[in-house]
Amino acid sequence: MARLKVAVLISGRGSNLQALIQAAAAPNFPTEVIHVISSFSSADGLTYAIKAGIPATVIDHRDHTDRSSFESALNLCLHTAGAELVCLAGFIRLLTAEFIAAWPDKILNIHPSLLPAFKGLHTHKRVLESGVRFTGCTVHFVRSGTDDGPIIAQAVVPVLPEDTIDLLAARVLEAEHHLYPLALSLVATGRARVREDVVEISGNLWPTSFPQTLFNPGLI
Ligand code: GAR
Repeated sequence: MARLKVAVLISGRGSNLQALIQAAAAPNFPTEVIHVISSFSSADGLTYAIKAGIPATVIDHRDHTDRSSFESALNLCLHTAGAELVCLAGFIRLLTAEFIAAWPDKILNIHPSLLPAFKGLHTHKRVLESGVRFTGCTVHFVRSGTDDGPIIAQAVVPVLPEDTIDLLAARVLEAEHHLYPLALSLVATGRARVREDVVEISGNLWPTSFPQTLFNPGLI
């Protein structure tokens, strides 16, 4: 089976990169990580690429005079590596509409909230302050707005009374590590497709034991 060639773009810790590398270790997983691009040379996540023997390139926007030169460097690197799909995994640079248009429905992003709620930074702090009882994570196709675009998959995580930002972030991150490989495999196998800017999923992926309703607090 020819596996789809994925490039992962990171800026920091790289735990979602690691989840995608680990998922691809299964022989029947439909993608392989063929290149990692980091916007910082100091990004811890680069060690996951090195350990896995995956080529990595640092493209730091501070080495470029403007956004267009930075994105040209990104594009060249992606094409030279033979990338067919791009996964943003904690990549902090916003991509322009021109760059995104050059990769139509070929760029995925993960965000630690149930989009479209809580886009942007300091997600878990804002979730806790808002008093919502559920949060989660989302993998979506990238459009030009921050954390915007057709939703591929989401995971729901409860917000618990004793939560701190760190506790909640860790619970959501664990879900992220399962969700990103799932969403990526749906896209790579053609089961998730954009139609009128909404993602349609084909195939029966809803087990009969799927909970129809979640309560938080639980029903007494
Ligand atoms: C993840 O929590 C991801 O959802 C978030 O950055 C973190 C990167 O962690 N992305 C965003 O907030 C996008 N707006 P990682 O480097 O360990 O994968």
